[in-house]
Amino acid sequence: MEFKDVVKNRYSCKKYSERKVDRARLNEILEAGRLASTAKNLQEHHIYVVESEENLAKIDKATPCRYGAPTVLVVAFDKNNVFTYPGGKRDSGIEDASIVATHLMLAAANEGVDSCWLNFFDPDALASDLHLPENEEILMILDLGYAAEGAGPLDNHYSRKEQPETVSYI
Ligand SMILES: Cc1cc2nc3c(=O)[nH]c(=O)nc-3n(C[C@H](O)[C@H](O)[C@H](O)COP(=O)(O)O)c2cc1C
Repeated sequence: MEFKDVVKNRYSCKKYSERKVDRARLNEILEAGRLASTAKNLQEHHIYVVESEENLAKIDKATPCRYGAPTVLVVAFDKNNVFTYPGGKRDSGIEDASIVATHLMLAAANEGVDSCWLNFFDPDALASDLHLPENEEILMILDLGYAAEGAGPLDNHYSRKEQPETVSYI
């Protein structure tokens, strides 16, 4: 798909059918995550593919926002392997994991797979429930699947500020 179309077609899907995401498509999505740029090329992200009933139930316990997605990616990062920016206020962990997550989300759209980015959950509680290593923090969850019949973008998907409201040439 043309990049412009990928960006235009993507929307947050909030109702999935039971159709599974096949391995080849999932692998393309994960590969796009692997190729993401990270600060100092640290690649501190870790992506967990959740498809088992047991772990999907843990996702459902953490958030009401799985919406029936048959595959869920949990994007985490290694807190002990981040780059601290000059000034010492911020580091690369959340930023790098966000870049990876964005690659995953757009690659999903390119594969015709619907998705939704989730942050409505307690990341520490979920990390503990999934038995993630102590050094890893969860950034986000990405629902993956195919929209249920009749499901589509919410109205707010079409509401975007005009460029002059968010862009200044200085
Ligand atoms: C950082 C981020 C966090 C989000 N968290 C959730 C969430 O927890 N649950 C949910 O249903 N949607 C979540 N969304 C989806 C937004 O509600 C949705 O993207 C927004 O309404 C714009 O719609 P669109 O993505 O279809 O354009 C999140 C999106 C982003 C970018």
